[in-house]
Amino acid sequence: MQNETIKVLVPKLPEVGAVLPYLKRIDTTRIYSNYGPLNSEFLSRLRELTGAKAVTLTSNGTTAIELALRVRAAPGRRYCLMPSFTFIASAHAVCNAGLLPALVDVSAETLTLTPEIAEAALESFDERPAAVLVVSAFGAPPDLAAWAAFEARHDVPVVFDAAAAVTAISGVGTQPACVSLHATKVLGIGEGGAILSNDTALNERTTAMTGFGFLGAERVSAIRGGNYRISEYTAAVGLAAMDALPARMEQLKSLTQAYRKRLDGKAVRFQNGVGDQWVTMTLNVIVPENTEQDTIDRLNAAKVEWRHWWGLGCHRHPAFADVPRADLSGTDALARRVIGLPFHDGLTEENLDRIAKCLP
Ligand SMILES: Cc1ncc(COP(=O)(O)O)c(C=O)c1O
Repeated sequence: MQNETIKVLVPKLPEVGAVLPYLKRIDTTRIYSNYGPLNSEFLSRLRELTGAKAVTLTSNGTTAIELALRVRAAPGRRYCLMPSFTFIASAHAVCNAGLLPALVDVSAETLTLTPEIAEAALESFDERPAAVLVVSAFGAPPDLAAWAAFEARHDVPVVFDAAAAVTAISGVGTQPACVSLHATKVLGIGEGGAILSNDTALNERTTAMTGFGFLGAERVSAIRGGNYRISEYTAAVGLAAMDALPARMEQLKSLTQAYRKRLDGKAVRFQNGVGDQWVTMTLNVIVPENTEQDTIDRLNAAKVEWRHWWGLGCHRHPAFADVPRADLSGTDALARRVIGLPFHDGLTEENLDRIAKCLP
């Protein structure tokens, strides 16, 4: 209907019927948590999907980043270099890992931190950072090779916040990629996360940290951790979500293509490769300079929900307003121009037409 508000995101997890066969297995095993058989099966399927040799399941994406940083950060150093343009969870994870965020700009082309920007920041900050947190923009694959070279050159460990990129990661190395399995992600399971790498020693540590630091069969805390596990019920949803993943990815691809066709010839642009080489649940357009407010006014008037998914940068949040930062003028200019459009399986042709009319 013409007058109905078009929602920006309507998540969809597997329906009860698809989860039920997995849940019934819990009735038989009577194992409800603590790395049970459904957890193990979900882990194997994540390994198959991503090609990662080592996977740690975590309670969410934020804790995945926290644990990876706690293992990888160089001891005795205080700061974690990270882009201000990211979801605020990245900054919380850095602090929860005992580090202070040092905020830097992103490339206007890729919306991400680049090795060149990080290198300039290494020159301008007086202290060498403990780590760099490289954030994948809305599910785009991170440049693994470029960051491996960066770490080798500068001896600063790199961790990837690849929250939305679980289906875009391939060939992950010793630099761990932390993904979110939140309901709003391509592989959504409600709440959950994972650390992917090919580093079995790191994996052993992060997995132990998810269960009070118990290493091996002994119930002895060898390292500090906490309870960051997922239950067997969550793993059951994860297995059903895996079953549905190929169809879901096709659907996200074709919706992205439908948008691309509608907006062909307009001034807005999409992220490179989206809907083609990788998929997302949060489709953004980047509108030309000085058109963002008019675009937003038109979307609001047409009852089209939109979202600045990552706000206007971490430095704009009171909780992080006073952390060290480099020049963020690039982020200030870019963030308001990245506009999240409605993206879900309920969109009709009329909806897409209405949205397209609002865009420059
Ligand atoms: C870039 C980024 N980092 C971290 C997270 C946190 O993931 P979770 O919500 O699973 O904790 C998100 C979640 O959307 C995110 O977009």
